Amino acid sequence: MPTITKVPKGSLTRTAIGGSQIMKDHRDEKLRRKRELEQEMRKTANPDDPASKPSSYKSQQMALTAWERTRNREQISYGKRTNLPMKEQRESLPVFGMRQQLIEAVEKNKFLVIVGETGSGKTTQITQYLDEEGFSAHGMIGCTQPRRVAAVSVAKRVAEEMGCRVGEDVGYTIRFEDETSPKTRIKYMTDGMLQVEALMDQLMTKYSVILLDEAHERTIATDVLFALLKNAALKRSDLKVIVTSATLDAEKFSSYFMDCPIIQIPGKTFPVDVLYSQTPQMDYIESALDTVMEIHINEGPGDILVFLTGQEEIDTCCEILYERVKTLGDSIQQLLVLPVYSALPSEIQSKIFEPTPDGCRKVIFATNIAETSITIDGIYYVVDPGFSKINTYNPHIGMEQLVVSPISQAQANQRKGRAGRTGPGKCFRLYTESAFRNEMLPNTIPEIQRQNLSHTILMLKAMGINDLLHFEFMDPPPRGSMFSALEDLYNLQALEENGALTKLGKQMSLFPMEPALSKTLIASVSNNCSEEIAIIISMLSVQNVFYRPKDKQQDADNKKVRFHHPYGDHLTLLNVYKRWKENNYSKAFCTNNYLHERHLRRAKDVMTQLISIFKKLHLPIVSCYGDLDLVRKTLVSGFFKNAAKRDSQVGYKTISDGTSVSIHPSSALFGKDHEYVIYHSLVLTSREYMSHVTAIDPQWLVQSAPHFYKVAGADSENRKRAKIAPLHNKFSRDQDSWRLSSIRQTKEKA
Ligand code: CDP
Ligand code: MG
Repeated sequence: MPTITKVPKGSLTRTAIGGSQIMKDHRDEKLRRKRELEQEMRKTANPDDPASKPSSYKSQQMALTAWERTRNREQISYGKRTNLPMKEQRESLPVFGMRQQLIEAVEKNKFLVIVGETGSGKTTQITQYLDEEGFSAHGMIGCTQPRRVAAVSVAKRVAEEMGCRVGEDVGYTIRFEDETSPKTRIKYMTDGMLQVEALMDQLMTKYSVILLDEAHERTIATDVLFALLKNAALKRSDLKVIVTSATLDAEKFSSYFMDCPIIQIPGKTFPVDVLYSQTPQMDYIESALDTVMEIHINEGPGDILVFLTGQEEIDTCCEILYERVKTLGDSIQQLLVLPVYSALPSEIQSKIFEPTPDGCRKVIFATNIAETSITIDGIYYVVDPGFSKINTYNPHIGMEQLVVSPISQAQANQRKGRAGRTGPGKCFRLYTESAFRNEMLPNTIPEIQRQNLSHTILMLKAMGINDLLHFEFMDPPPRGSMFSALEDLYNLQALEENGALTKLGKQMSLFPMEPALSKTLIASVSNNCSEEIAIIISMLSVQNVFYRPKDKQQDADNKKVRFHHPYGDHLTLLNVYKRWKENNYSKAFCTNNYLHERHLRRAKDVMTQLISIFKKLHLPIVSCYGDLDLVRKTLVSGFFKNAAKRDSQVGYKTISDGTSVSIHPSSALFGKDHEYVIYHSLVLTSREYMSHVTAIDPQWLVQSAPHFYKVAGADSENRKRAKIAPLHNKFSRDQDSWRLSSIRQTKEKA
């Protein structure tokens, strides 16, 4: 349940940091070069190139498409590697020279660690080598990726290299999307999906080789897979496990995997100059934009890669920069502005891999997805503000939050390396050298040590792994977060008091989503509203479907209000989806109502996937035909922990710990005063807002979660004063509570 929190502006000064100063230092000596460049530009500018006639950021992207139509005619003149025939492209990668050595090492060893620079060909080539050498004869070659986008984009690339369609010899599986067939020999997938497969088949019998790619990212799923695959390979003589990493954790990986050999792929890298900011800067976005402009005006040819923390920031920067570039006039070369983040539609994403047209410079604003997961050729300049958004568990609100945090030194160096792939580059660090040395951690903390573990623990329990304290984690999670995950699962009735998995818990583990959601889905079956709940959960799993164009905000708001349900946002989302369905899922309906068609289509895909999971589990899809109290009651059975009660002073207070919270202004319940509500997540901006809020009957809390809530004062004489109070504090104070004893039991058994 990640919620977005923004670091308050003032606190950025601690490590952040500014680009303007570094650039100003260089300005004078660059002025001369600028004039020279401008003259060159004037000579090379092509007035017929549609990409050089922009009118807005969006139309610029369209211009790019128009330009692409004429690209084939002109291809030869670029002579970039991307235009080489496929075979030569493959053979020009650093990994190609290591092919024989790699194959022999895989043949001889059960485990293998491979280290190599990003872009050396690890992800796209090694799977193909193994396939060509016949490894896929007795099982698929699987390759995991921490990110969905990377899994999809490499699968497409490899299919292209092998001359087949995605889903045939090469396929991918990500949550809610399976593009594989019985023919598939090379399968890319998110690490989370392989973890789900382990539930059914711990020995991974479908696979002959599994590559745990991007292992340095240390996602929870990869960390869990380390242990599961180690166990599987020790039991199966014919399973090979390869761990690849872009950084220097190799020794640690090797010692974990029985001191296996490490193969280093020599990288083709060029030196990169690092320029630090002289002084900390208040606003890293402003600094980043300034730095890009100055690079564009003052520095020689080469594309620019800027690391930002998320989609909103990236979109905003793209728009601002586009406006600024317009003011430069015709004398400066064209600057193409492109965004990259996971949620971007793949048509636009593939644009970043296109070679930059002659006489143009490309600037790419990317999340840390461009650190290692994807490789963009032609980057000479990197702008690094020093931040990324990470998922952290906030014990205060008992939820995960995406928080903007300083990156680690390892990440900073990885970002720097992106500038040295095509030639000598420059990296503009928008923070001081002392911030780099003294304030950044050497390495990123593994996810497993900072995130909510309830989903992971549920899966491990479902695999029959009860002794969590002795599970062979490479870096064990803190005990506190294991306890709180066990407690969450117990409250959701997925675990017995002794820590054993319940029947409900077993079913929940089969849904690839957080336990509160899977519990809600399963409860919807007995409440006869699985159709409605599946729609609501599909809608919650996509990005906001409503949009408000700046010039038509009022109209958009009026249209939105028509979908509002008096009991809140979950039922509002249900309304939107049902009305869209009644209108034959039409595009016109979306346009007329200011709805993102793309997000709705994605919700429809998720719905299809949920239906197929229901079918697999023999659970019926049933409708409550308008009895929407059933739907609200069902939502409470999963989200009872996120309940709040109205408070005359502060708006609302959460029942579990009394945090002051408000209803988000975009909610259908904004300005209404229901006594009790539940929410999907908390969003921390200027204050803590509840997002996706639904009014409830407080009795449902006690009915759904008798372990968690009681009616305080219900047994007293004055029943009017009865109120709902959380029970869980009693549990956490109680030394002999079930959670400790269940952990102790597992410990004693071992
Ligand atoms: O995994 P590693 O970072 O070592 O490299 P890779 O992902 O196998 O990429 C090798 C090369 O394939 C890159 O340098 C790109 O030129 C190309 N590639 C591509 O064109 N499109 C992709 N989606 C992925 C890679
Ligand atoms: Mg890779």
